[in-house]
Amino acid sequence: MILKGNFIWAPELGRLEVRERAFLVAEGERIVGIYDRLPPEYAGRPVTDWGEAVIIPGFNDLHIHAPQLINRGIGYDARLLDWLDTYTFPVEARYRDMEFARAVWKAFLNRLWAAGTLRFSAFATIHKQAAWELMELTERSGLRGLVGKVNMDRNAPEALREDTGASLADTEELICRSRAELKRVGFILTPRFVPSTTEKLMEGLGLLGEKYDLPVQSHLAENPSEVDWVHQLHPDIPTYTQVYETYGLLRRDKTIMAHAIYLSPEEKDLLCRRGVMLAHCPLSNINLSSGVMPLRGALEEGLRCCVASDVAGGHTAAMNRSVAAAVGLSKLNWLSRPEERSLSLWEAFYLATRGSGSFFGRVGCFEPGFDFDALVLVPDPTDSLLERTPAERLEQFLYDGDDRQIAARYCGGALVEQPFPS
Ligand code: GUN
Ligand code: FE
Repeated sequence: MILKGNFIWAPELGRLEVRERAFLVAEGERIVGIYDRLPPEYAGRPVTDWGEAVIIPGFNDLHIHAPQLINRGIGYDARLLDWLDTYTFPVEARYRDMEFARAVWKAFLNRLWAAGTLRFSAFATIHKQAAWELMELTERSGLRGLVGKVNMDRNAPEALREDTGASLADTEELICRSRAELKRVGFILTPRFVPSTTEKLMEGLGLLGEKYDLPVQSHLAENPSEVDWVHQLHPDIPTYTQVYETYGLLRRDKTIMAHAIYLSPEEKDLLCRRGVMLAHCPLSNINLSSGVMPLRGALEEGLRCCVASDVAGGHTAAMNRSVAAAVGLSKLNWLSRPEERSLSLWEAFYLATRGSGSFFGRVGCFEPGFDFDALVLVPDPTDSLLERTPAERLEQFLYDGDDRQIAARYCGGALVEQPFPS
């Protein structure tokens, strides 16, 4: 496959590559290279010429709750723990109804496709059947990623409180079934957060992680009341992070922890040693008045970080909105914490493409050997009345673009069409 256009990507934090009117060659799933002139060995091969379009890597969203898509924008006068009880748990309980689940899952995958999120790591709900259905539909969609059945066996309403043994058995069944039947979608262990999971459940999940060498996703230090609660539940363990560590849930280079706002230096050191990916979710942190993650400090200390949507703490799955929000929030943070230099737009762009893509391997970059994932962006007709550089057009897309500007999506070397009829 050969594409022509203006390619822009962020190979590392703070560095932007722009290749205007260049040719990208991909073979199978992978990128062979980007060239200013088409190498002679490709002469005569068909070229898809995207003209003036800007072509960027797809977005990778490492923290999103699929069942909550239907709740976006609801209940943001509350803070985390009340918001969960009042708005989130009642909706998640509905996913025992497979017809309801299937309808939302299709809308979810269509929405991610439309917004340009080509890979993701999603929470489903506690329901085995619904989680399986989300995995299968994702496989069929052409998008890629990880899906986890949520585990909860304490401090949950009756309808969402699992029997510990059944929770572990359902999880293992899904692990085995997805390994046998799916190619593009993997299972990720998903204890909701420490207050929702007993020691016995966390221990069992840690063992499953070892047995099947699985990734893990959860929440960490999002809200001060949540952190206090964890200390009350585990008075013998010094920190929230160490609770996960105690039960084998900080799996090296395979763990995503969302939020990570309120951490001690010791916790950051442990997260760094375990190569944990911290998912910064600016829209959620604003909506639920959770706080501001000290992202600059985390990056400077060598922690792996990415930008994620956290729908429905975040009110939109569109990752460009989370990128712009990460920059805005970090500017406000800079005013009160001068040592926390604010994030540039290109740094935030990196964190939503290559930064998050690193969790899946060689993803999020237009360099040889990387998986070919891309979004083709065409300018809004009004904006094209002025001459703009490709980088300027990308700036405008990141702040105010939407699916009308995404003309095509490629994931793993293939053009992906809208997965399900709307
Ligand atoms: N902590 C535990 N569960 C959740 C959730 O669903 N959303 C957010 N933002 N935080 C959580
Ligand atoms: Fe979340």
